[in-house]
Amino acid sequence: MIANSLQFAVVSPEDLPALVKVLREAGLPDDDVALPGRVFYAFQLEGQQVGYAGLEVYGPNALLRSVLIDPRHRKRGLGSLVVSEMEKLARQAGIETLHLLTTNQAPFFERIGYVLTPRQVAPPDIAGTAQFKSLCPSSAGYLRKDLGSMPQCGHH
Ligand SMILES: CC(C)(COP(=O)(O)OP(=O)(O)OC[C@H]1O[C@@H](n2cnc3c(N)ncnc32)[C@H](O)[C@@H]1OP(=O)(O)O)[C@@H](O)C(=O)NCCC(=O)NCCS
Repeated sequence: MIANSLQFAVVSPEDLPALVKVLREAGLPDDDVALPGRVFYAFQLEGQQVGYAGLEVYGPNALLRSVLIDPRHRKRGLGSLVVSEMEKLARQAGIETLHLLTTNQAPFFERIGYVLTPRQVAPPDIAGTAQFKSLCPSSAGYLRKDLGSMPQCGHH
């Protein structure tokens, strides 16, 4: 089971340049990764680096960002697993709602419980993020998922 062998660790400041490189290659925002309030995780499968994901935290809300699976490892369930690990971490940190913006992966996130939502209802902290301000509504969808009332799902 890949779920059992997926491991993750916080990306340390000295490893941020490697993250920036892959984010840039994927066309995802990278210029603010070192700012306070962001935490990024690197995911490994059998010792091999397979992906990243990050949280940008604003009290009970957080932006789920930088969800990225190495192209060679896509379409085998890793993206969904990474998101589910991020949800567990977010819950443990007391985060109630995850928010995200995506230009072309809305169907992927909808399949795993994220709801396409009008931007006007985003909390001010989320609406004020660099991602929100830089990605225009015509090019990026806003999705969210409430974590608070969700039953604790078992292990995948
Ligand atoms: C979005 C992204 C993280 C998904 O990663 P992934 O590892 O391919 O995700 P999964 O494998 O869990 O799911 C992807 C698809 O593969 C399918 N899939 C999952 N397991 C599968 C398997 N064993 N065999 C075949 N297909 C499978 C899923 O049904 C899903 O279908 P969908 O794309 O139509 O929703 C990846 O495409 C990516 O890194 N994209 C670039 C960065 C990006 O846009 N990130 C989002 C913004 S933060």
